[in-house]
Amino acid sequence: MSQQLTQIQPLSQPVHLPDEMASFSPEVEAEINGHLAKYPVKRSAILPLMFIVQRERGYLDPPGILYLANRLALRITDIWEVATFYSMIQTEPVGKYHIQICKTLSCKILGEPKITEHVCNKLGIKPGETTSDGRFTVSLVECLGSCGTAPMFQINFDYHENLTPEKVDEILASLP
Ligand code: FES
Repeated sequence: MSQQLTQIQPLSQPVHLPDEMASFSPEVEAEINGHLAKYPVKRSAILPLMFIVQRERGYLDPPGILYLANRLALRITDIWEVATFYSMIQTEPVGKYHIQICKTLSCKILGEPKITEHVCNKLGIKPGETTSDGRFTVSLVECLGSCGTAPMFQINFDYHENLTPEKVDEILASLP
């Protein structure tokens, strides 16, 4: 074997592997089993299961990732590859309200920079940050499929479209 091969270092894991795996209530387990039963191959249920784990734990934390790897018979890296591909899946804690501002072409041309600046100034944070009270996280994301009503953002699962700074103020003020 060549000298070079013997010097290869083991790959580092993308997340610290916890000692304990996440666990869920019988109701949530039943929901998970229902999704697994829909597919002939377990790994096909990866997205619905990720959404459930995220809903229950706030984000895909290491115990949640370990749970998914076990239930889907996949490697941690398989889970991580999918989790980091989709902006709907969070691998870090986010605030109670996750504001995802579309930064793609239609929104960009029709005012996204102004909306982003307004939201960030109002909340006192930059994209990628969470307010100190844990209430808001702001992210910039790719097209959310609402290009005809640009500029727009998504707060948790709700779309807000044809945004103006005034409309942003109204939306933020209306959140409980
Ligand atoms: S470009 Fe913003 S929703 Fe498509």
